[in-house]
Amino acid sequence: MPRKPYNKRDVNGVAAPNYNNGVSNPMMSTPEFKVRLFLFVACLWPLWVLALFGASAPGHNQQIASTSSTDNDTSKNAVSSPAAAMSNARFNLRSVLDRVDVMGYGPTHPRVAVVIVGEDKEDLIASIKSVYANTDINRIFVVCAVLDGHQEDLEFVRELRNVDNGSVPHWHGIRADVHLPGTNQAAQEDDPHSKKIHVMFNPTRLGVAASRLDSVEFVQILEKKHISAGFKSVDEDLILLLMQGGAQLKSHSWLAETTSALIVPPPILGIKDESLAMKVANAVSFHTEGFGKRTSFDEKFSPIITEATADEINLSNGHSFPTPALNGAAVALRLDTFANLPAQDPSLMDPWTANLDLSLNLWLCADGIDIVEEVEVSPPMAENPTTTLNPDQAARFAAVWMDEMLQQKFFQAYSSTWTRLDWETKVTKVKQSATTPSDLSRRCRSFEWYAKEVNPNLSKILEMGGWEHDHEKEIAEKQNVSKEGEKETQTLKPPPLLERKEEEKKDPPPINAIPDLAGHDKKKPSKPLRPENLNIVSQAKPINIEFEDASDGHEAHPHLGATDENGHVGYIHDETALRKNPPTLKIDEEQMAKFCKSRDDNYKMMHNRIVVDMEYDKKMEKSGVKRDKIFCLVYTIDSGHPKIPNILETWGPKCDGFMVGSNKTDPSLGTVNILHEGPEEYNNIWQKVRSMWSYIYDNYYEKYDWFHIGGDDLFLLIENLRLYLESEEIKTAANGGIYLPDGTETTQTPLLLGRRFAYMGDLNDIFDSGGSGYTMNKAALKLLVTECFVNYFPHAHTFSEDTMVARVLRKMGVLPYDTKDDDGGERYMPFMPGHHWSYHLPKDPMNSKDWYAKYSINIKEGAEHCSPKSVAFHYVKGENMKRLFALAYGLCPKEYLD
Ligand SMILES: *[C@@H]1O[C@H](CO)[C@@H](O)[C@H](O)[C@H]1NC(C)=O
Ligand SMILES: *[C@@H]1O[C@H](CO)[C@@H](O)[C@H](O)[C@H]1NC(C)=O
Ligand SMILES: *[C@@H]1O[C@H](CO)[C@@H](O)[C@H](O)[C@H]1NC(C)=O
Ligand SMILES: *[C@@H]1O[C@H](CO)[C@@H](O)[C@H](O)[C@H]1NC(C)=O
Ligand SMILES: *[C@@H]1O[C@H](CO)[C@@H](O)[C@H](O)[C@H]1NC(C)=O
Ligand SMILES: *[C@@H]1O[C@H](CO)[C@@H](O)[C@H](O)[C@H]1NC(C)=O
Repeated sequence: MPRKPYNKRDVNGVAAPNYNNGVSNPMMSTPEFKVRLFLFVACLWPLWVLALFGASAPGHNQQIASTSSTDNDTSKNAVSSPAAAMSNARFNLRSVLDRVDVMGYGPTHPRVAVVIVGEDKEDLIASIKSVYANTDINRIFVVCAVLDGHQEDLEFVRELRNVDNGSVPHWHGIRADVHLPGTNQAAQEDDPHSKKIHVMFNPTRLGVAASRLDSVEFVQILEKKHISAGFKSVDEDLILLLMQGGAQLKSHSWLAETTSALIVPPPILGIKDESLAMKVANAVSFHTEGFGKRTSFDEKFSPIITEATADEINLSNGHSFPTPALNGAAVALRLDTFANLPAQDPSLMDPWTANLDLSLNLWLCADGIDIVEEVEVSPPMAENPTTTLNPDQAARFAAVWMDEMLQQKFFQAYSSTWTRLDWETKVTKVKQSATTPSDLSRRCRSFEWYAKEVNPNLSKILEMGGWEHDHEKEIAEKQNVSKEGEKETQTLKPPPLLERKEEEKKDPPPINAIPDLAGHDKKKPSKPLRPENLNIVSQAKPINIEFEDASDGHEAHPHLGATDENGHVGYIHDETALRKNPPTLKIDEEQMAKFCKSRDDNYKMMHNRIVVDMEYDKKMEKSGVKRDKIFCLVYTIDSGHPKIPNILETWGPKCDGFMVGSNKTDPSLGTVNILHEGPEEYNNIWQKVRSMWSYIYDNYYEKYDWFHIGGDDLFLLIENLRLYLESEEIKTAANGGIYLPDGTETTQTPLLLGRRFAYMGDLNDIFDSGGSGYTMNKAALKLLVTECFVNYFPHAHTFSEDTMVARVLRKMGVLPYDTKDDDGGERYMPFMPGHHWSYHLPKDPMNSKDWYAKYSINIKEGAEHCSPKSVAFHYVKGENMKRLFALAYGLCPKEYLD
């Protein structure tokens, strides 16, 4: 059926879209639809507030008029004199909206738009009832029910309205309310609450994919109207719940679980602005098939049920696990995520192919799909879904998602009856069609990646040969084989691809996997690791630390590299320039007197507590032992460049390698314009960090042992850092946690070192604070760049890079190592020294408003908070950098000291 491409429609502004596209849908194709839409919008309950305050934006008069004339009773109920309120409309409106936010419409408590597609009335009613029974009515934005393949049916509409009749407590903007049956208008047909349910009829069956796309378009129009009327903040990101008619939510917790999986509130130091909430482009599915079970599909793309591995379940303590595909009973994702999927095919009619298409979009071009185990959804009654792809569908999936080689392999796996010519003809036809999205490879991951990492049941496709294993020849061969037994051995030989796979598996086993045999002549450290740290270290797999080129020709983000001062790509910064040619430290007498005479808390911490062990450092340098090499990475933007000289004059040259990631290259400062996806803004640091680490990995990995990153207000004590990194403890940890390395190791356990915070106090969600920065060894950097960046959140748009780094490393079993010293003193500090000197924990840290108390893990107060051998401080601004340096390195003249 010919359909207009969706994303080309204009959904801006007030005008209803042109639905006159030849689709025979009386409801949508008549001008009446426009009026219906207006009425519908006008009746939506929050809009009565608009009418109430008379807040009219140009072009909205018609809406308001219709509201007042249909909703007499609400206006009467709410305020006795609407006219009085009108005078300060705008002002009051704002405060009403604030109130609405408190109730839970803010960016971190978005409302949900439910889209239910079905072909059976009873199924739709059952699903809608389950939504109402399990969702806070205030958080339902709209419920859009599509009755596919049915004529308009007013009886059915009336029936649905009874589901949502306002009989549960809810808010009218500023007033809590409940309509008891019989006591007010609720019993009447036109009560103010029945319009959250919107019904669409498709007299000609459109199918699942197209019905969903239609409904989402409707939701987007509605959203725009709410935004322009001032009833929805642009920061509130609607959640979209797609259900199949007949599926039923079973748990009230579904929205809370879903929200926290899709939207992460700001975790970062001192940032309370909730509009900066991190938005994840993943989708959430629910427990439908039994504990630990999930929908997947085989090499012919037919659905199968598989079990999540114990590892996958354990990663989140059984809370959730990834699923390769959706069964479509219910799936939740952000409306924006859905709208940005690049390759949705509206021609897929049946639930399975539509869900398969959605699944591939989500995995390859967004952040994937997770099942939330606690939330149960009962699946719709089985209605004989088509479970195999027809050849046209198969050809389309191949043409859209696979490269040429994989298309051939998929064909071998999919069909035993077709000829190669049939297949190539079909695929070519799909490719040439104007509605087939092209060039997904720049935006999305490869199908091969998906087959390897997400859906192992597709391994059969990867193992197939290409055209050289010509299909018809193979069939002929098989026929011959059955005749001549001797040929059998030849055909049973595994194809070359399999052989290579076997070889790869023969990697040397990780050292700590065979402790006893290998352990005889291995040296243990003088003190074992603390049990907690041993546990942390043993969760991570040691990895081979040989450099593997992950840049892929530097053609795609995050390996695009850097530009020089003139904008030429391919710039490679000389990271040793600063160490070779450090600028002189400039502190005049007056400054020095100021730095050293003040007896503030910064002085107390630096002078009375912190020690830089220069003796040890000198001894080590003399001994000729190979020192660990540290690369320091600072990030800023051009407006932060004036802060850089303070670092260059103080601790910067102590790093073996030094670079400042920026958006402007200036060799005199060591700043480098790193190319990355998305805009140069605070809210996009994740993408910048992905590019910076990739650049460091691509260019400097082999020369350095450790890599530290921090902002331009970071102060490092490099001698103490190196002392710690070269300690028996850290060497043992990087070697699996039991034995010291002997220098012959080819593998290393990834280590993530820094200041640990428990996100919202949750000890299962620990990350290293970005303030003091974090230090990684080779194994961690390699894993981060070559695995984590590729597989997790490749396009997320967020500032919380520190939680993101912890999160993606955690997916690979790497947890932040506890870097406290043996007396419980912290080494990495999120604030200035003086802050820690004077800080006192509140009585009940977990219930206090003090985020720092809540996030901190067993910290000490006062001087003892900081390890004498501290390595990092944060929020060191302006000349404080030089002051801390002078105090730490004994530069103060004696007469100024006690
Ligand atoms: C609203 O009020 C007008 C005038 O007071 C009246 O004619 C109309 O019937 C009322 N409508 C409803 C739905 O109560
Ligand atoms: C309103 O909804 C409740 C719960 O769904 C139901 O028990 C009640 O009968 C409904 N009332 C009316 C007037 O439809
Ligand atoms: C998963 O966790 C459970 C309980 O914590 C544990 O018993 C089990 O061994 C773990 N499985 C794996 C594969 O780590
Ligand atoms: C899918 O993969 C799992 C695990 O690799 C395996 O146990 C199962 O048998 C496979 N199912 C099919 C139908 O290939
Ligand atoms: C099958 O066997 C016949 C004779 O036994 C031979 O001519 C033919 O080439 C064989 N076909 C293939 C594909 O090996
Ligand atoms: C760097 O980014 C900032 C913040 O977005 C911007 O104001 C500035 O113009 C950018 N500088 C360059 C050289 O692009």
